[in-house]
Amino acid sequence: MSTDYSNKHVDFQAPEPTPEEQAELDAMYKRMDEVHLKPLWRQIGGLMPNSPEPTAIAHKWDWEELYKMAQRSGELVPVGRGGERRAIGLANPALGGNTYVSPTLWAAIQYLAPGENAPEHRHSQNAFRFVIEGEGVWTVVNGDAVPMKRGDFLITPGWAFHGHHNIATKPMAWLDGLDIPFAHQMDTGFFEYGTEKLTDESTPEYSRGERLWAHPGLRPVAFPGEQVSSPIGRFAWEHTDAALKDQLALEDQGFPGVVSPGHAAVRFTNPTNGKDVMSTVRAEFHRLRPNATTIPVQEVGNRVFQLFDGSATAYVGDEKFDLQHGDVFNVPSWKKWHIEAGDGGADLFNFSDHPIFEKLDLARTYTPEGI
Ligand SMILES: [Fe+2]
Repeated sequence: MSTDYSNKHVDFQAPEPTPEEQAELDAMYKRMDEVHLKPLWRQIGGLMPNSPEPTAIAHKWDWEELYKMAQRSGELVPVGRGGERRAIGLANPALGGNTYVSPTLWAAIQYLAPGENAPEHRHSQNAFRFVIEGEGVWTVVNGDAVPMKRGDFLITPGWAFHGHHNIATKPMAWLDGLDIPFAHQMDTGFFEYGTEKLTDESTPEYSRGERLWAHPGLRPVAFPGEQVSSPIGRFAWEHTDAALKDQLALEDQGFPGVVSPGHAAVRFTNPTNGKDVMSTVRAEFHRLRPNATTIPVQEVGNRVFQLFDGSATAYVGDEKFDLQHGDVFNVPSWKKWHIEAGDGGADLFNFSDHPIFEKLDLARTYTPEGI
């Protein structure tokens, strides 16, 4: 005789309680509330769904509106010690008014007027900037002045002192991304003020970190070993753009390289170990040929996209977002998503919290329509 170990669902029907039992149960649940206890059998469905049921919803923020708001706050709100940064955070409408774009990630537009300085500070939260337009700002990370130009991706790893200064005659705005919500909810955050005045006001064309580390496949012998975060402070647009162009050119020539037909993508990495640039944040850049489509996917974790160039339509769960220059949208955990490029193709910056879940062995990816 064999035993059937298949995971059959058993419809167990508990007998109805008698009126006396019901009264006793009601009294017990009331007392449980009073002494801060919750019986699992009354909440199992919400606590342990069959697959992730995120509280966050998919949402799109229009860049035009964001930029106008940042401009106006540039006129009305000074930047300085205390507020620290003129940053406007994107608050997911379903996350209770917190400035969380997702349960783990923060995204904001930061705006610096000509001649303005944002004073130095440091925090254990990992941070990056993605520059959607403009130039003339240097971000100073642990005393290294890093230029910021259109298309550049810059990192400020946790606990590195950093400040910004704008020497241009024009204001500048960029997208800030951090793991603030993760640190906030897990109670892991530390913060410290640095100097009011920036520790280096020079304006070099390349930061020292780039000069040491940003040569393809070459690392300085003086710095062996693995580092937690990338020592490259700035991933210049010229390299990102060239890598994407080459992937598509190789596709034209019949060689592998693209993720799927017409979809080139690169990940910003830490050259000391080949992993993500920072321990909690993954950052990528995606390029779609005109009318190309990404493969629909469901993943554990949260993504945020910003359309850098071209136009596209994003599908997230039941939502559909038409995207123009600078628009930002998020993908909550396990929501099926894909992106279709417009007639001129689409360039998209993307960041996610996927490294957190990979480290904890909780990552899952599913392509419901196949690859
Ligand atoms: Fe900061």
